[in-house]
This record gives sequence, structure tokens and C-alpha cells, in this order.
Amino acid sequence: MQRDDIAALRALLEESQNAVVFTGAGVSTESGIPDFRSPGGVWSKMKPITYQEFLASAETRREAWERTFSGVMGWTGAKPNAGHHAIARLVARGKVSTVITQNVDNLHQESGIPAERIIELHGNASYAKCLDCGLRHELPVLKQSFLGTGEIPVCRACGGIVKSATVSFGQSMPEAEMRRAEAASRGCDLFIVLGSSLVVFPAAGFPLLAKRCGAKLVIVNREPTEQDPFADLVLHESIGAVLTAIEPLQ
Ligand code: APR
Ligand code: ZN
Repeated sequence: MQRDDIAALRALLEESQNAVVFTGAGVSTESGIPDFRSPGGVWSKMKPITYQEFLASAETRREAWERTFSGVMGWTGAKPNAGHHAIARLVARGKVSTVITQNVDNLHQESGIPAERIIELHGNASYAKCLDCGLRHELPVLKQSFLGTGEIPVCRACGGIVKSATVSFGQSMPEAEMRRAEAASRGCDLFIVLGSSLVVFPAAGFPLLAKRCGAKLVIVNREPTEQDPFADLVLHESIGAVLTAIEPLQ
């Protein structure tokens, strides 16, 4: 790891008055959750189920629920890692005002960041919602019934289709979260991308929006991204190591 890159990132953070952190699946791999596009990642093992496919057939909904209840995505039982905790310390220190995340694993919340500081662009996999009336459903209850009866979950209030509270490909983005993420990207003076290949839009548009609005852009990602040329600082390193290395000596 280049010492001057660490010093440069530490300096950018020290001079920043309002930093935003933007995370992707790469921040959770050190918690044992596979990312999507690294070699061996989730999409090398299975095809994403689009929102339209989920709505169109009970069989596809069964496949989606089997993925959820089998824990194949690696979210069940995962714990925040050194990277998550370092981000939480930056929020607690008042250095980072907002964490915009594409992740659905709830690990930023579990690392102690207040929910109002977190913007989940792709929803959350730790619970489910009725697509008709919006009623929240808890996964353990749905899992017990699914494994018991073999019936795919339906809403206990209105009988509507129930889906994990994540945003699938083809599903509309959450409007309020998109508005909040746009405001945070426009208003920050430092935008730090942690662990994203930056290939899924509109989420991947926020780093460049921040840059256009005058923020310094930092990308910490093991692999190069298409947005590296626009960044002020790029570290192709592991997030946990970088974020602990930049911390002031306790
Ligand atoms: N440290 C640094 N970078 C890492 C680490 C790590 N420990 N682990 C993985 N990475 C990098 C990988 O090199 C990869 O470029 O994180 C990036 C993760 O990219 P993706 O797997 O594409 O994940 P992400 O960018 O979050 O995907 C965006 O795509 O499938 C949808 O909805 C899903 O939110 C997801 C979206
Ligand atoms: Zn309902």
C-alpha cells in the first residue's frame, strides 16, 4: 500500500468539512459476503431475477425465495468488518455526513451508523414488503411458513405479492432515497467511493455528480473502474486496510 496515497487520503479527510461515503459490495467482502462482479462473484453463479420476471411467474418467485431462505447470497449471519467500523467512526467524528450505499446487507446499520445517516439506494434484504399494500413482513416468519407448507409468501393482510425489500433490476428506484443522495452528492466537498465497480446506474452517477459540483473524488477499489480517470485519488487496495491505515494515531 502506497504510503503517500494514505497520507493524501488522510489529508483530504482532514481538510473536508462535509464528506460523503458511497459504498458497494466491495465493502462487505471482508465480512464474507461475495460481491457481484469479482471473479467467482454472485453473478458468475446465478442470473439476477428481474422485477418483471418476479411478478410474471410464481415459479420465479419460488426461485427468488429459495435464494433468500438458503442464505446463498451470504448475508445471513454476516457481521460488520474493519471497513464498516472505520466508516462508522468517521460518521461519529462528524467527518462523514452521509453514507450512500448500494448494499442491502444492513451492515452499515449494524456497525452503529444512525439510520438517518444512511441512504439505501437498492433497498434492504433483512425484511420483506407487500408490493400491493406495503405491509412489512419479517423473514423468519415467512421462512418458517415457506419451509413448512412449501407455499410462496403472500401478504397476510391483503393477499398481495410479497417481495424482499431490495430493489431488483427493472424495479423503480426509491424516489426519496434518490433525492437525498442527489442532495448529499451536490452538497459535499469530498466523495469517497468504497468497493464498487460503478457499472450500475443510476447509482453510479452520484460520484460524477459530486465531482461536477466541485467535490474531490476518491475511489478505493481493488479493481480499476471506468470512473478512475475522473478521480482526484485512486487506491486499488483493500478497504479494511486503507481505512484503518488513515486513522490518526489513537
Ligand atoms: N476492498 C476493495 N475493493 C473490493 C474489495 C475489498 N475488500 N472486495 C471487492 N472489491 C471491489 C471489486 O474489485 C469490485 O470492483 O468491489 C467491487 C464490487 O463491485 P460489484 O461486485 O459490481 O458490486 P457493486 O458495485 O456494489 O454492484 C452494484 O449491482 O448487482 C447489482 O444491486 C447490485 O448493488 C449492486 C449493484
Ligand atoms: Zn398487502
